Amino acid sequence: MLLKGKNIVITGAGRGIGRAVAIACAKEGANVGLTSRTIEQLNAVKEEIEGLGTDVNCIIKSADITRLTEVLETFMTFHGELGQLNGVIANAGASWRASVHEVPPEKFEMVINTNILGVFYTFRAAYPYLKRDDKNDKARFIITGSAVYPSVMGGFSSYTASKYGVVGLQRELATEYKKENILVNMILPMQVDTKLLRGRRAGDGNKPSGVLNPEDLNDYYLFVLSYEANRVNDELIYPSNFEAMKMIIKEAPEEKKEDWDTFKVFLEEKSPNLYNNVKKYGKLGEFILNRSK
Ligand SMILES: NC(=O)c1ccc[n+]([C@@H]2O[C@H](COP(=O)([O-])OP(=O)(O)OC[C@H]3O[C@@H](n4cnc5c(N)ncnc54)[C@H](OP(=O)(O)O)[C@@H]3O)[C@@H](O)[C@H]2O)c1
Repeated sequence: MLLKGKNIVITGAGRGIGRAVAIACAKEGANVGLTSRTIEQLNAVKEEIEGLGTDVNCIIKSADITRLTEVLETFMTFHGELGQLNGVIANAGASWRASVHEVPPEKFEMVINTNILGVFYTFRAAYPYLKRDDKNDKARFIITGSAVYPSVMGGFSSYTASKYGVVGLQRELATEYKKENILVNMILPMQVDTKLLRGRRAGDGNKPSGVLNPEDLNDYYLFVLSYEANRVNDELIYPSNFEAMKMIIKEAPEEKKEDWDTFKVFLEEKSPNLYNNVKKYGKLGEFILNRSK
C-alpha cells in the first residue's frame, strides 16, 4: 500500500475528481478527511470507503470553502480526529459558462472565491497541522488546477481567470514553504466527466471521446502523495501527456514495457515529442507505466 497510515484531507470530495481520489487514497491505506458543502454526498463516499475493508479512518465534515471560519473549524476537526496531516488536496472548484458581457457579476465572484480564495483558506487552515518535521517524508499540498491554463477555451472567463490566478498562488506557496518541508504541486486536468463539466449528465455513459473518467486521474494524485515524490516541488502536472503515453503502453508489445528503461527507449522512437514532455517529470513516467501494466 502506497499511503499506509498517512492522513490526507481532500476538499470537494463529495463527487467527481475529489470522490475518486478519496477512494483511491483509502484503497492505498490512507486515513482521509473529506469535505464539501453537501453532507449527503460525503456520507455516500464514507460508506463506500468503509465498504472497502481497508480499515482506514474516514472523517467527514461539511463546509463552504469560501468561508474561512468554516474551513478553520473543519481542519481543526480533522486534526483532532486524525492527528498531523501528511497531505492536503485543495480540489473544490466551481465554474460558470457565459460570455464576459453576460456573466452575472455575482457568479464571476463566486467562481473566483471558490477557486482562488478557497485554496488560500484551505492552506491557511491546514498549515498548523501539516507534518513539517521530516525532510525524508515531506508534507504535500496539491491543488487541482485546469488545462485551461494555458489552453483557453472561450466562454469561461471567471473559471479561466481563477485557474490562471491559482497558478500564481501555487508558485508562491511552493517557493515560500519548501524550507518548511511542504511540497506544493498542481495537477491540471483536461476535460473530465463530472458535474462541473457535464452537469446532470455526468456519469451517464455517454461522455464525448477524449473526456476522462474521474478515476483516470487517481494515479497523478497518488504519485504526488507517495514517497516517490518526496523531491517533487512546484510542478504543474498535465495528465494529457501521460494519458497519451498510456495509449502507447496499451499497444506496446509486452517485452517493450517490462521496465521503464526499456519502455522509454520505445517511447522515444515512437514519439520523441511525447517522450520529451514526460521525461522532465522524472519518476512519474515510471510510476504510470507500472500502474498501467
Ligand atoms: N471536470 C473537469 O473537466 C475538470 C477539468 C479540469 C479541472 N477540474 C477541476 O477539478 C476540481 C474538481 O471538480 P470536478 O470536476 O470533480 O467537479 P464536481 O463533480 O462538480 O465537484 C466539485 C466539488 O467541489 C465542491 N465545491 C464546490 N463549491 C464548493 C464550495 N463553495 N465549498 C465547498 N465545496 C465546494 C463540490 O461540492 P458541493 O457542491 O457539495 O459543495 C464538489 O464536491 C475543480 O477544482 C475543477 O476546477 C475539473
